[in-house]
Order: sequence, then C-alpha cells, then structure tokens
Amino acid sequence: MEQKSKLITTTKRTRINSNNVNLSISISKIRKSSHSLDKMYDLKKYMDAADMNFPEDMQDMIPKDTPPFLDNGAHYVERIGRALKFFKQCALIGPSGTGKTHIVYLVAELAGLPMWEINCGLATSVFDLFGRYIGLGKENWIDGLITNWCRRGGILYLDEANMMKQDVATKLNPLLDQRGHMVLTEKDSEIIHRHKHAYMIISMNPVSSEFAGTKPINAAMRRRMSVWLNFDYMSIGDNIDEKEIQMVSEKGEIPMVDAETIVKIGSKLRQEYKMGDIPYGPSIGDLVNWAKICADGASILEGGDETLVPMTSDDPEVQDEVRHIIKKVLESQLSAKKTDVK
Ligand SMILES: Nc1ncnc2c1ncn2[C@@H]1O[C@H](COP(=O)(O)OP(=O)(O)OP(=O)(O)O)[C@@H](O)[C@H]1O
Ligand SMILES: [Mg+2]
Repeated sequence: MEQKSKLITTTKRTRINSNNVNLSISISKIRKSSHSLDKMYDLKKYMDAADMNFPEDMQDMIPKDTPPFLDNGAHYVERIGRALKFFKQCALIGPSGTGKTHIVYLVAELAGLPMWEINCGLATSVFDLFGRYIGLGKENWIDGLITNWCRRGGILYLDEANMMKQDVATKLNPLLDQRGHMVLTEKDSEIIHRHKHAYMIISMNPVSSEFAGTKPINAAMRRRMSVWLNFDYMSIGDNIDEKEIQMVSEKGEIPMVDAETIVKIGSKLRQEYKMGDIPYGPSIGDLVNWAKICADGASILEGGDETLVPMTSDDPEVQDEVRHIIKKVLESQLSAKKTDVK
C-alpha cells in the first residue's frame, strides 16, 4: 500500500553578513514518506549519483526527499540532466511558482549533487560571491560562494539571473566557457579550475511587457547558455490539468470537486497575472495551502480570504478583483452542479 505523503519543509540557512550585505544560502529539505524517484525519472542516462564522490561536509547540501515534479510527459528532469551533461549549464524560464526551484532540487537529489543557491536580485557583492581578505596576510583569504562551488562542485543555482549585477556577470563569464576556470585577481591571480562536477543552472521570469520589472539577461551570459527550457503553470485559463486537481486534492486533503474549484480559480488568477492585471499568479503550492485551510472547515471563500487574496496584493482594489474572480468561479461551479442534478 502506498503511504500517504506528508510534507514538512525545513530550511537550513547559512548566512554570510558583511557590510550590510546578506547572502543566504538556503538548503531546503522537503521530507516526505519514501517514494521511488529513481523509478519515475530516467536521469541515470545522463547523470548518476553513483559517480559522485563529495566529502562528508558537503553531504548535507545534497537535497533529500524532494517531492516529485509533475509534467505531462515533457521530461523536464531528463532534459535538464542532458543539458548539464553536454554543456554543464542551462537556463530555466517561467513565471513565478512554476516549479523551477523545485526541479533544480530534484535534479540535485537524483544526481547526488550539493546545491549552492544565489538570488541575483539581492544586493550581493562581488566580494561575497568570489572571496575577500578578512584581515592582513595571505592566510586570511576566504572563498566566496561561487569560488567554493567552482573548487568543490555541485549545482550553482542562480535565481533571477537577469537581475545579476554587471560586475558579477563580468567575473562569471569566463568561467562559463566550456573548459572554464576562474582567476582570482584579488588573490595573486590564483587560477581555479572548474570542478568536473560543477554545474550551473540559471532561472528567471520571462521578459515581456506582461511582467513588469523584468529585464533581458546580459548578452554575454545568454551566449553561454546552450539550452533554454520554458516552464509554465500546469493549469491556466480554461486549460485545466486533471493531475493538478488530483495533487491539490491529495496534498490538501479535500474532495476532488473542491480541488477542481480551487484549481479553476487559480487558473483564472494566473491568466490575469500573465495579462498583467494582477501582480501575482498562484503556484500549485499556494493552492494546496488554500485547500488545507478548507480541509480544516473553512469554506473556499473564507480560505481564499486568508490565503490568496492577501497574498496577491495589499491593494484593496486588487483584493476585490481577486475576490470577484473567486466568486465568479464558485457561482459557475454551482450552476454546473445544478444542471447536472436536473
Ligand atoms: N510541476 C510541478 N510539480 C510539482 N510541484 C510543483 C510543480 N510546479 C510547481 N510546484 C510547486 O509549486 C511551488 C512553487 O514552485 P517553485 O518555488 O519551484 O517555483 P519557481 O518557478 O521557482 O518560482 P519563482 O520564480 O518565484 O522562484 C512549490 O511548492 C513547488 O513544489
Ligand atoms: Mg524559484
């Protein structure tokens, strides 16, 4: 009998604080009951955890028990594996909440690779990323995060890569050429060769007029990414994915009919978000959280008021718009049910 999965997310954070710069590396471990990920994905063809040999102190950085990533036969996991094997790096593009971070953790787990994570939107300096002297004397040099990754291997995940500061991008570019190495000009020009299992994945939201605030990625980095994978919501607008309903029902522990309503509302909101009418489109995780509140006795409307409505925006006008969409879908579901009874 298959065990019911229970998700508990714990986050281990390492912080490097300097000059008001906060760099946080989060290593999320999503624990759940055992499932055989290896059987679901054929990553071994490209990357095999058995080939990896990372030291004891890096074992904690390899994600564990990541939930499966659902797609409709698009084989995203394998395609990322292929890109990493052939080119050592790739780019993921898609709106917020479409599972980009999730799949990177999953690939890291399946391939037995430690994760190094940077959000390029944060004010992180070249010193934090590449290294610095913390006192007088050569022995006082400490490697930054990217230098560490380059020496020791694993997946470097650069979120919001299009927000990367120019000075960071400039230093990173030579490293991304096929047999890249880095030169620590600050440290007597030490040359560090890219570890044979040092892979990089960058991710970002699509650049279009619909996504306010996004900007195109720097051209030099664009040229160095051979593979670009597009991500999108499982359900959007009138296009409803049965698997998403099933997942919301199972994880949120609510009946399928209610899960269907929640997914339909989510899909409408995502459409509005993509058209630029509201500032946020809900992820499947958000819909599951909403379902959990309903499983505890709240109505769909009450649950929405505690979750998606305030999550979308602080602006009362936008909140009203979200409420309006929720009510509209609820009404159409109700009238569909009545027609069924007749
Ligand atoms: N296809 C999918 N299969 C399983 N879970 C998914 C899928 N898509 C999204 N999720 C879930 O939705 C939530 C949001 O996903 P995630 O944080 O990976 O999105 P993202 O694309 O990285 O968003 P952002 O651009 O904001 O960083 C997570 O809880 C994730 O597990
Ligand atoms: Mg993400």
